[in-house]
Amino acid sequence: MADLIDTHAHLDSDRFEADLAEVLSRAVAAGVRVMVAVGITAASSQRCVDLGSTYPFLHPTVGIHPNEITEALAGDWERIVSLASSPRVVGVGETGLDRYWDRTPFSIQEEWFIRHLELGRRLDRAVVIHCREAETDTLRVLKDQFEKHGPIRGVMHSFAGLWPFADACLGMGLHVSFSGMLTYKNAADLRAVAGRVPEDRIMVETDSPYLSPHPLRGKRNEPANVVHTATSLAEVRNVTLERVADVTSRNARELFRLS
Ligand code: NI
Repeated sequence: MADLIDTHAHLDSDRFEADLAEVLSRAVAAGVRVMVAVGITAASSQRCVDLGSTYPFLHPTVGIHPNEITEALAGDWERIVSLASSPRVVGVGETGLDRYWDRTPFSIQEEWFIRHLELGRRLDRAVVIHCREAETDTLRVLKDQFEKHGPIRGVMHSFAGLWPFADACLGMGLHVSFSGMLTYKNAADLRAVAGRVPEDRIMVETDSPYLSPHPLRGKRNEPANVVHTATSLAEVRNVTLERVADVTSRNARELFRLS
């Protein structure tokens, strides 16, 4: 079958420390030969960049996740800025807004979200956006940026909203990426959204080690499992798995400008 790209995996996680090489070979064996390794702190971003040097098929992004901001040390943002300009880095983030965990005061989350958007624009890198129970605020920030600066090069990752949110994101130029949540029994609404996203804007991801797809829920997730999400996407779009692999991989290559 055609190759898939896992556009969002936290491969620097401690949970992969013991067996990353095996995890990556299982991914390759499953046809997942390219992965985007997403940073969430300055140290995690550095590890993603290092992983990208070790494994040429891993493409790093660098950023500070909204839930990690209060733990950031002086100088961490400067480290992100400096890492972001290294030629192998394909994206800025994971950034965004999160009202579910509420670990960082919301005004600070917003300030850092805007910082990441500005950095992505300045360095011409795709922005990897997280949104959890904060759609209204996320759209407000994005619309303000969109009105000032035009289309936003980036992805709404692990999409979990309804069509109006997807439509608004698409209207500002964003891609939409679906995770293992798409396979959950109670996710009929999400599958309906996935059926409507234009073919040139859709991508798949695992968000490993989180969000294992059905029937692996509860276990550690890994990039090989992106096949389950792609299969579910093929069903809802009434196309072949090969077609899903072709279009999602092409979209990922274009968005992140993967070589
Ligand atoms: Ni993530």
